[in-house]
Amino acid sequence: METVLSGIRPTGNLHLGNYFGAIKNFIRMQDEYNCYFFIADYHSLTTHPHPENLQQNVKQVLVEYLASGINPETATIYVQSDLPETAELYLFLNMNAYLGELERCTTFKDKVRKHPENVNAGLLTYPTLMAADILIHKADKVPVGNDQKPHLELTRLFASRFNRMYGIDYFKEPEAYNFDETLVKIPGLDGSTKMGKSEGNAIYLNDEPEMIRKKIMRAKTDAGPTAENQPKSPEVMNLFTLMKYVSSPDTLAFFEQSYNNCSIRYGDMKKQLAEDVINVCEPVRMRINDLSNNTTYLEKVMRDGAEKARINARKTLSQVREIIGFKN
Ligand code: TRP
Repeated sequence: METVLSGIRPTGNLHLGNYFGAIKNFIRMQDEYNCYFFIADYHSLTTHPHPENLQQNVKQVLVEYLASGINPETATIYVQSDLPETAELYLFLNMNAYLGELERCTTFKDKVRKHPENVNAGLLTYPTLMAADILIHKADKVPVGNDQKPHLELTRLFASRFNRMYGIDYFKEPEAYNFDETLVKIPGLDGSTKMGKSEGNAIYLNDEPEMIRKKIMRAKTDAGPTAENQPKSPEVMNLFTLMKYVSSPDTLAFFEQSYNNCSIRYGDMKKQLAEDVINVCEPVRMRINDLSNNTTYLEKVMRDGAEKARINARKTLSQVREIIGFKN
């Protein structure tokens, strides 16, 4: 069975875009592949989170993954820092990662532009740490969005360089798992094409019903159609797109028709949309609340995940040390 690995930086709550996008795919994949889903808390140190926020955010991602349906019996869920072997592999890989290629990485250049006051070495070597995450499990496939593709390219480069350097076919070059055709993109409530935390246009899985209603009622629309079958503005298109994922086909057809014959009232559509979003989010929110209080269970999931993941990690590190010339 092929191994799939994906990491997420713990930076806060997950939203509907994460849910219908990556998470739905993870839930499908966990039955088809040997899956590792981990929380990249080492990576999040590049932005210097407060220790309490770090803890809280790690727990939040874990809870929300579980509440969304990621199954710790099938997939391995773990916290990156519970695998100290990752840090050791990162050290080894850094010896053969070159300044030029790290500096040229588009994600690094972006960070430098956006946060010139915090260009730390961890940021520069962010791709090496990611390579360590992937190579430690010899992952075959890594689901990545476009923003992370340069990191996967560097991972492939580091893997093949290691092999060449030591004259051994040890690491395999991981492939990008492309779920482009199946990856649902949930639009923002502000007319932008993407729902995102930094965009400030998101509905979170743990938003209470009243909050969801408020956000949706505030979503941007336009002055309304003035002719039959008029093309939709981006704002209105987004409401229809969201409706496609949360409402019944009949409901969607009803509002399509009323848009096309110009009888639509956006207020009515938003009210319906809000209730349908709530129907999707409420059961998840309930599970989030239950799980949040179940510290014993969460600790067990983390412990079991770390234990399973460390079996690979230890094995890889002992082989790597030997290849490099260290005694075990
Ligand atoms: N860099 C990824 C992100 O910000 C998170 C991540 C860390 C990751 N290590 C990984 C993703 C390994 C895939 C594989 O989204």
